[in-house]
Amino acid sequence: MIRICRLGLGLTLATVAVPLVTVVAQGQQPSPAPPASAAAAGDPATGEQIFVNLCGFCHQDGGRVAGRGPKLAGTDRPDDYLVNRIRTGKEGAMPAYGRAFTEAQVRSLVAYIRSLKADGQ
Ligand code: HEC
Repeated sequence: MIRICRLGLGLTLATVAVPLVTVVAQGQQPSPAPPASAAAAGDPATGEQIFVNLCGFCHQDGGRVAGRGPKLAGTDRPDDYLVNRIRTGKEGAMPAYGRAFTEAQVRSLVAYIRSLKADGQ
């Protein structure tokens, strides 16, 4: 799954996050094993890989704490809201990743964000 993820990331990394990626790699913990329905529900481990590379610069400590962007762990926003924010971003605040990710990658990002809640952080 990491291999699939990397394929999808090359373009985005080059265009969006090259200056950002060096800051974010510390403090990540391994994700729990994905559920059996990972293909349909999104795979948190895949989501984490994307998140570490592209999102952690603003959503710090893997989204566990507030930084440039809000803390995501334990968010009570519905999935639709999270997907929409990832796709459309927020002008002046967060880039829009609409064309950067496949449907499965967005689902995996949401699954990763939900897994933070499951960790109780
Ligand atoms: C340049 C900084 C930046 C980057 C990079 C970034 N975000 Fe954000 N993000 C923000 C800010 C700022 C907000 C708050 C926007 C608002 O006011 O709704 C936000 C909001 C969000 C929200 C909504 C949270 C909530 O409860 O309102 C989600 C989900 C989210 N980001 C996910 C991601 C993901 C996934 C990525 C990587 C693909 C990412 N972000 C990359 C800055 C960033």
